Amino acid sequence: MSRTPSPEPPPLAAGANVAPGYEVLAHLCRTGWLDLYDAWSQERECRCVVKVLRPARRGERRLRERLLQEGHWLQTFTHPHLVRAYESGETPEPYVVLETLTGATLAHLLDRRRRRLATDDLTLLGLHLCSVLHYLHGQGLLHLDIKPSNIVVGCRRAMVLDLSIARPPGSASPGIGSFCYLAPEQARGGTLTPATDVWGLGSTLYEAATGDVPFDVPLDDTETDRYPQLDERAPSVSTRRRLPHTLTAAIDSCLAPEPGDRPSMAQVTAALEGLLPYGRRGPPVDASPTIMNHSPGSLRTTRHQTRVTEHELPVTSHQLPVTNYQSPDTVRRVPGASDASDPASSGRHRCLLTQLRLR
Ligand SMILES: Nc1ncnc2c1ncn2[C@@H]1O[C@H](COP(=O)(O)OP(=O)(O)O)[C@@H](O)[C@H]1O
Ligand SMILES: [Mg+2]
Repeated sequence: MSRTPSPEPPPLAAGANVAPGYEVLAHLCRTGWLDLYDAWSQERECRCVVKVLRPARRGERRLRERLLQEGHWLQTFTHPHLVRAYESGETPEPYVVLETLTGATLAHLLDRRRRRLATDDLTLLGLHLCSVLHYLHGQGLLHLDIKPSNIVVGCRRAMVLDLSIARPPGSASPGIGSFCYLAPEQARGGTLTPATDVWGLGSTLYEAATGDVPFDVPLDDTETDRYPQLDERAPSVSTRRRLPHTLTAAIDSCLAPEPGDRPSMAQVTAALEGLLPYGRRGPPVDASPTIMNHSPGSLRTTRHQTRVTEHELPVTSHQLPVTNYQSPDTVRRVPGASDASDPASSGRHRCLLTQLRLR
């Protein structure tokens, strides 16, 4: 007689402890392998995001290791466009505590607003992504999952999340990453290099510019191994949006099928910087070699110290929730705090959040 599997327990309720010293304020979302919580750190007296494996996946050693590895990297790395982890641990279950990013994911802005980014915002988004990807490459890692839902936009910055499939360059099995965003060598299973992240950068800018992914795969096909990017080249971004020639050329070249035909991060950075109005360009900085030979002229990175461009995304005073998953009832008081000290409700403490200018 076969036993029906018991249903997965629901996420923890507000007030429960998700990890030692972290009280749940709200459950943010359940992904394929994680539960994410808006939590209160009793020690730091601040709000944070706690990632844990969802109950049904806790027995999978590979996922436990993956989460802890991500926590270790995000604790170690320091970059203004990369989310930071405060701590990680294994008791009672593996968890990672992240700084709370205010704003909204780029996916949310594109999907919910059904709009496209203005040219200046596309340029700045590209520069922020080049900066953080260059930094990660300098640390010996490829991100491999650059896409709008792994980018949070707020406080004048684009911030990158999710190092869950990051790894050093080298060969990988087919299909690692997110279906619609896979570079041909990721889809096919080949040698992954910094050029693989250049593809992710290009796909993200393409989608931010046009509202569409370069390869629109019908949802029914995502279960198959049919990857259109293995058979055809992405239609030029110019077929879907009129942009300055330099921007069109930069995005299209990132999506070259052969990794060797794609530009380096340095070349994309230089192209994008040329599009900035004069006053917004950062000061020239000497190129410095990184272990992967990608050295954007305007970026200099050392292990613990990062120099990045001074470009900022434009500010608006629009207030957005902590993540796109937040519903009105998750805007709540943190334990022991008055309304005035709740970052989500106080005008005085309100962070100036960026909503990219959409049109
Ligand atoms: N530090 C954070 N601050 C705010 N929202 C976050 C944070 N980390 C993750 N999120 C939200 O949770 C979602 C899922 O997190 P992510 O790390 O990308 O998990 P997965 O590996 O399952 O994709 C993100 O798309 C984002 O909306
Ligand atoms: Mg993600």
